[in-house]
Amino acid sequence: MALRPIGKHNLIAICLLVPSAFLDGKDPSDNAFGGDLLQKSRDYVEWLDSKPQSLVVYISFGSFFNFPLQEMEEIARGLLESNRTFLWVLRALADSKKQEDKLSCRDELKKQGIIVSWCSQVEVLSHPSVGCFVTHCGWNSSSESLVLGILVMCLPQFSDQPTNAKLLEDEYKTGVRATKNEKGVVEVDEIKRCIELVMGDGEIGEEIRRNAKKWKYLAKEAAMEGGSSYKNLSAFVDEIEDGF
Ligand SMILES: *[C@@H]1O[C@H](CO)[C@@H](O)[C@H](O)[C@H]1NC(C)=O
Ligand SMILES: *[C@@H]1O[C@H](CO)[C@@H](O)[C@H](O)[C@H]1NC(C)=O
Ligand SMILES: *[C@@H]1O[C@H](CO)[C@@H](O)[C@H](O)[C@H]1NC(C)=O
Repeated sequence: MALRPIGKHNLIAICLLVPSAFLDGKDPSDNAFGGDLLQKSRDYVEWLDSKPQSLVVYISFGSFFNFPLQEMEEIARGLLESNRTFLWVLRALADSKKQEDKLSCRDELKKQGIIVSWCSQVEVLSHPSVGCFVTHCGWNSSSESLVLGILVMCLPQFSDQPTNAKLLEDEYKTGVRATKNEKGVVEVDEIKRCIELVMGDGEIGEEIRRNAKKWKYLAKEAAMEGGSSYKNLSAFVDEIEDGF
């Protein structure tokens, strides 16, 4: 459907590309994207193991973008007010200062959750304790959320992120997009409202959970040997081979 407007090229649709260990399970050693981008901490896995099922909020805004401090404050306060346990990835800043050290509520945050400088995202998203992903909706993060059946709260910034957020909210219906105020900032109350909507027991939360399960199943089915994505990709590879 989305490919139709690009009619003059011969396009091949395949499913989302996520390491095999988390998708079709064929190659358990294929379990990370492009190696380790940044040095990661390890103790988060043990910490996650100690938490109840589906109750941890995972927050990461990818490997590139940092929110301005004021917006980080809103996110941090929103998390505190939601009173949810969280795992937050906060990369060190260019001057190698820690982002969390600039937050006014740093000490309260550390009581309610943990902050790490980097982690294996697919590993975290597939951990049973994780219930919701607060994301900037980069393509990899969006794909991973669908394939791993995770509910999302979208905080898109630029580039393809608003489009990906729209797809997640309106087409796949696996999450909600946070609304910005007139200054372009997502405020504390909105952060809290969205987390409650996604993780709460209300009708919207129920629907989001059903959809997330459905897409997880469909993505696996498409990627398995004989599935639609598998066939399309194989046909493409065959075509290239025939060309030589
Ligand atoms: C995104 O995924 C691709 C594989 O599809 C990988 O090569 C790339 O390193 C990933 N990017 C980030 C920022 O993780
Ligand atoms: C926050 O959650 C903790 C347990 O996770 C609970 O003991 C506490 O009463 C909650 N606080 C509020 C204000 O709901
Ligand atoms: C595989 O290609 C067919 C025909 O173009 C398309 O209908 C189908 O959606 C594709 N599969 C995936 C997983 O994109």
